Amino acid sequence: MTNEESVQVSELSQKVSDMSVDQSVAEQKITPWEVEGAVVDGVQMSVDYDKLIQKFGTRHIDQELLDRFERVTGHKPHLFLRRGIFFSHRDMNAILDRYEKKKPFYLYTGRGPSKGSMHLGHMLPFIFCKWLQDVFDVPLVIQLTDDEKFLFKQGLSLDEAYKYSKSTVKEIAALGYKPEKTFIGQFYKNIIKISKSITGSTAKAVFGFTDTDCVGRMFYPCIQIAPCFSTSFPALFGSKKDIPCLIPCGIDQDPYFRLTRDISVKLGHPKPALLHSKFLPALQGSKSKMSSSVDNTAIFTTDTPAQIKNKINRYAFSGGADTLELHRLHGGNPDIDVAYQYMCYFVDDDELLDKLADEYRKGTLTTGEMKQHSIKVIQEFVSEFQAKLAKITDQDVANFMDPNYPRTFYFSDSI
Ligand code: TRP
Repeated sequence: MTNEESVQVSELSQKVSDMSVDQSVAEQKITPWEVEGAVVDGVQMSVDYDKLIQKFGTRHIDQELLDRFERVTGHKPHLFLRRGIFFSHRDMNAILDRYEKKKPFYLYTGRGPSKGSMHLGHMLPFIFCKWLQDVFDVPLVIQLTDDEKFLFKQGLSLDEAYKYSKSTVKEIAALGYKPEKTFIGQFYKNIIKISKSITGSTAKAVFGFTDTDCVGRMFYPCIQIAPCFSTSFPALFGSKKDIPCLIPCGIDQDPYFRLTRDISVKLGHPKPALLHSKFLPALQGSKSKMSSSVDNTAIFTTDTPAQIKNKINRYAFSGGADTLELHRLHGGNPDIDVAYQYMCYFVDDDELLDKLADEYRKGTLTTGEMKQHSIKVIQEFVSEFQAKLAKITDQDVANFMDPNYPRTFYFSDSI
């Protein structure tokens, strides 16, 4: 496919041999189910993303790639790209090659809902996908994996998980996707073929499953892999096997797609390309990520302005000095200040952010003032989202989930 391909002889074997290092208590552990930074001399560290790139065998999203992106698409890279929030990729150049040649590709992402509403961290890939879809005018398929949550989350019933996935569709729709460009669903085609090409020992090596895990868990990766292949969507691509997808996702989801890339050739499909994001820090700081199950680590789409204000004021880790006097004297550190970090995800204006960081470092801007700015930004984002959500109807949801809803893209004629 590309030069990048030829050097990566087997992404999977690299992972399998690295897996054993993961077992050490001191090493960071990033899997689809666990995200833990390293512990060094009893001290919890943040996730080391450079190390992940090395270990997973992915590529940095560097300035050269961003420049090419801008040249090819005519769009200034999204703030998530400019600020290294989406920081790693596989084969993004191959996708840009296709876009230049007007050859089709599609976007794929997904969500396994463990609650009725998302938190801000869950929204990142969806916000980013919406932008990518606007830039490229390609189909987006979104997989809902209530089955995954049922298999992996203790105490969650299948009915409950299904109910959550229904409310998740509404939330996704509220981000401005159009049903004529987007298909949201659960896809069972191809799953069986995939399941025949993955052995139990591979699943154990890649995902760390053990003999006490139920077979449903072992089988689940086949479900998440199926939408990577264009034949899973006959209504979109007919029987075409050769249309690749680009998957924006959290870096923790990479094992699924590393495995997909390993079996694609055998199954006669192109390898998926990927864009990986960092995790949105918990309110308590970058040593942990926002978590649905710990309410005070996260800001939810359902939070009221008062709740947002309270959470940020009370819990957002401050990079400011211990006292106001010391802060005025020595300044603070915006790089570890959660209120500032959140603004880096939600404020597009680079100059404004630089100015705030600069004043914070000088000590002219206090922690309280930084939090005020951040509260306003997040409150606005969440209430605008809630207003859009209120307008989503059951018919909208049905359209997104109807595989035969009429859909058109720039390459529709060539398929
Ligand atoms: N496993 C993901 C989750 O826990 C859901 C998911 C399914 C997904 N398919 C995906 C995420 C593709 C990213 C890309 O939420």
